[in-house]
Amino acid sequence: MKKYENYSLLSHNTFGMDVKAKCYVEYDSEEELRGLIPTLEGEVLHIGGGSNLLFKRDYEGTVLHSAILGIEVVDEIVEDVLVRVGAGEVWDDFVAWAVEQGYGGVENLSLIPGEVGASAVQNIGAYGVEAKDVIALVEAIELSNGQKRVFGTEECGYAYRQSIFKRNLKGKYAITYVTYRLQKHPQLKLEYGNLRAVLDADSLLVGDSPVYGLNAVRQAIIDIRNAKLPDPKMLGNAGSFFMNPVVSREKFLAIQKDYPQMPFYEVENGVKIPAGWMIDQCGWKGKALGRAAVHEKQALVLVNLGGATSDEIITLCNTVCKDVKERFDIDIHPEVNFI
Ligand code: EPU
Repeated sequence: MKKYENYSLLSHNTFGMDVKAKCYVEYDSEEELRGLIPTLEGEVLHIGGGSNLLFKRDYEGTVLHSAILGIEVVDEIVEDVLVRVGAGEVWDDFVAWAVEQGYGGVENLSLIPGEVGASAVQNIGAYGVEAKDVIALVEAIELSNGQKRVFGTEECGYAYRQSIFKRNLKGKYAITYVTYRLQKHPQLKLEYGNLRAVLDADSLLVGDSPVYGLNAVRQAIIDIRNAKLPDPKMLGNAGSFFMNPVVSREKFLAIQKDYPQMPFYEVENGVKIPAGWMIDQCGWKGKALGRAAVHEKQALVLVNLGGATSDEIITLCNTVCKDVKERFDIDIHPEVNFI
């Protein structure tokens, strides 16, 4: 266990906010976490890799971080394997492991920053796959009394970038392990955006058909992400700053009249429109307000040009939201958690 007072969170948030936690505690096991609970003082914030947070100020309570590690195949069910992973494992290390073993299901989620515990909180998603598609169960410890609870996927309330851990149970549980159901004979999902085109360019040809493998998919996703998304080590950011809004079919059709080239995805409850596209249309791509900017290659991402304050980021966020509202009459909302 590690425990520090007045601890800098600079290396624990990818936006690069130079804030401090009154107390920071990192635990290595469920037993250690249980032992800690009675000693916790003040408000508690559980973080993962800090890749989806914007700290507005110093944190006056205790920041908890899991260092529970381990990747273990715990069961095999016909065509699938169940893999139990410690919440503190780096997400992409787990993806790399799965691809190396030849297990399918998470390759489209390559290179997403953050840790395994957060994958179950945020329901991370990319290129046509969401964490909920592969999560079998989530083990967690209740922070008020140390009791363990195992959540089946259906109990986690998953939706687009949503879960019960972000809503009703926010701050109440610490996730300790996530068990994923992966395929022994991978069924690749290649239909999102330009994924298949990128693969076609790279993959081997057998006769006239390209051969795709897990490794090729992982590499293509890594290439696509690297081409569009800024590396937080070079330029502070928290990935997509906004969620993609879902609007009614009527509203979508009305906007499409003026913008026939608008990209969109049909979803259950309406039509999802990429917020990045709308921000781009508003002329914000690559523009700065103070030391905060809209990323030049993907307008969904706000970046810290160096030394930006949270106020500068929030001012940019509000200005962008206002402009999108004025032009499209659509409200967009941050995906990033403001602390
Ligand atoms: N677009 C623009 N201009 C931009 C950005 C996007 O015109 O500046 C257009 C693109 O050309 C494309 C459409 O908008 O037609 C969608 O763009 P993209 O495929 O890049 O995905 P996205 O909707 O912007 C979402 C996720 C990303 C994820 C990608 C790929 C959310 C909030 N974001 O972005 O997730 O990687 O799809 O699946 O759903 C993250 O959560 O941090 C993240 C990066």
